Amino acid sequence: MISEISFVLDSSIVAIDFTKPSSPKPTTTVLNYLRSLPGHKGVKEGCAEGDCGACTVVLGELVGNKSIRYKSVDSCLLFLPMIHGRQLITVENLKDRSGELHPVQSAMVESSGSQCGFCTPGIVMSLFSLYKNTDHPTRLEIDDALTGNLCRCTGYKPIIEAAAHACVHKGLDHLSGDNSRIIGLLKSIPKAPIHIKTKLQSYFKPTSLSAVFSHRRQHPKAVIISGATDIALRVTKKHELIREIIDLSDVAELKAIANSPAALTIGAGVTLNEAMPRIERDFPALYNMLSVFGSQQIRNLATFGGNLGSASPIGDTLPVLMAYGAKVILKGPKSSRNVFLDDYFLGYRKTARAANELITAIVIPKPRNGAAVRSYKVSKRKDLDISTLSGGFKLDTKNDGTVKNIVLAYGGMAEKTKRATTAERFLVGKKWNRETVELAMLLIDKDFTPISDARASAEFRRVAARNLLLKFWTDTVRNE
Ligand SMILES: Cc1cc2nc3c(=O)[nH]c(=O)nc-3n(C[C@H](O)[C@H](O)[C@H](O)COP(=O)(O)OP(=O)(O)OC[C@H]3O[C@@H](n4cnc5c(N)ncnc54)[C@H](O)[C@@H]3O)c2cc1C
Ligand code: FES
Ligand code: FES
Repeated sequence: MISEISFVLDSSIVAIDFTKPSSPKPTTTVLNYLRSLPGHKGVKEGCAEGDCGACTVVLGELVGNKSIRYKSVDSCLLFLPMIHGRQLITVENLKDRSGELHPVQSAMVESSGSQCGFCTPGIVMSLFSLYKNTDHPTRLEIDDALTGNLCRCTGYKPIIEAAAHACVHKGLDHLSGDNSRIIGLLKSIPKAPIHIKTKLQSYFKPTSLSAVFSHRRQHPKAVIISGATDIALRVTKKHELIREIIDLSDVAELKAIANSPAALTIGAGVTLNEAMPRIERDFPALYNMLSVFGSQQIRNLATFGGNLGSASPIGDTLPVLMAYGAKVILKGPKSSRNVFLDDYFLGYRKTARAANELITAIVIPKPRNGAAVRSYKVSKRKDLDISTLSGGFKLDTKNDGTVKNIVLAYGGMAEKTKRATTAERFLVGKKWNRETVELAMLLIDKDFTPISDARASAEFRRVAARNLLLKFWTDTVRNE
């Protein structure tokens, strides 16, 4: 057990002992820590809630013992202990010792990609991550890399040009030259469990599930975090002092993905971006939903366990996982059980998970050949937006074209993710044609009493929910 954290910054190991009076708190964000240093003011605070990307930094993580994986993240959402054992790269680290700009920086200069400059360090860091991960990015990949970065004055055209240019004409990247030294430094950081205790806070970062359960027994009120993209806002927006935290992000048992002919099992601590390549082929509807989930910076942190743990009625993975017939694995100190998502959500942010249980994985059955599964997100803009409502639908038909099974799961229509069971019952056994679908559309009203809020009126939600079913029908018929 160690009580301080270590990470690599400016090509050296930095250690923080939180017990010293001048030290930051365990819940100090990486953004605020960096802003307190003399040489790292490039990182900016815009929103402090993951929406603007002005605080984007890149984390380097060891893969095996030989290479480093680079991920863009919002430093406003990261508590300091979350970067233990990682390399923290800021915009100041991109130019080389002689002051030569990094290829992504030069490309930004050459294409006039900056005006007031407030967003520029964050944009440069997102482009740096793209540069490290992709050789010939498509326009879609460039747009996706920039989804989490808001620029209010330059306009995105020159920034997109800079991205395309830098990633195709890769110049000298001095960070690659330094790789073996950084790998050596990262390897020298102990991977032991962390227990930080200050006068006001306790922060546990265990490395095994058994240790998580032991901490929970002793600290039943401790807040569990995984990627902290939901929980960090309690600190940055509500200015809450969270007294006790159990951070799951180093528990290897929660990070496995297992593929069998029947199902894909994804550990609760797997980030959405880590899971996406494993999901794309067999679960395209889930993949499509993840493609419009937050931004790269969010998906590099956010986990399935966190989305299911929050149990928000507008959680984006929930309706489509329900459509696939997914189950959560809930594990307590002594036993484990599998619960279908249909039975998991009980009410507004209320679930069947007992206080001493954790979500350890989600099991997603592979749909039968010929079954159609689709996901839909209705939001004010396509990217980095909260759902107004969403749908995850699955259709199984018989050879005679009648409906054998159908799942119509909706988010944003009730206090929890919920199925339109009246419409489902009506459709089973009927021909899957426009006439029956139009009748079923009216029945959706029977299962939901949506509310009006800042995003939409109840009436909008009612009409949109019906239209999503019509869209589902159109999509299934079009693809026949
Ligand atoms: C800018 C921004 C954009 C976002 N965009 C989207 C979006 O498009 N769609 C969407 O659905 N959400 C979105 N979110 C919300 C959030 O990113 C997701 O809910 C995410 O999946 C949470 O995962 P996490 O690992 O970060 O959770 P955390 O913040 O770590 O935890 C969330 C909750 O789950 C609990 N929890 C975590 N892991 C477990 C576990 N293993 N067992 C039991 N409980 C657990 C925690 O105690 C906490 O209550 C966004 C958030 C931000 C800040
Ligand atoms: S400050 Fe806006 S995303 Fe972090
Ligand atoms: S250059 Fe001003 S916000 Fe982007």
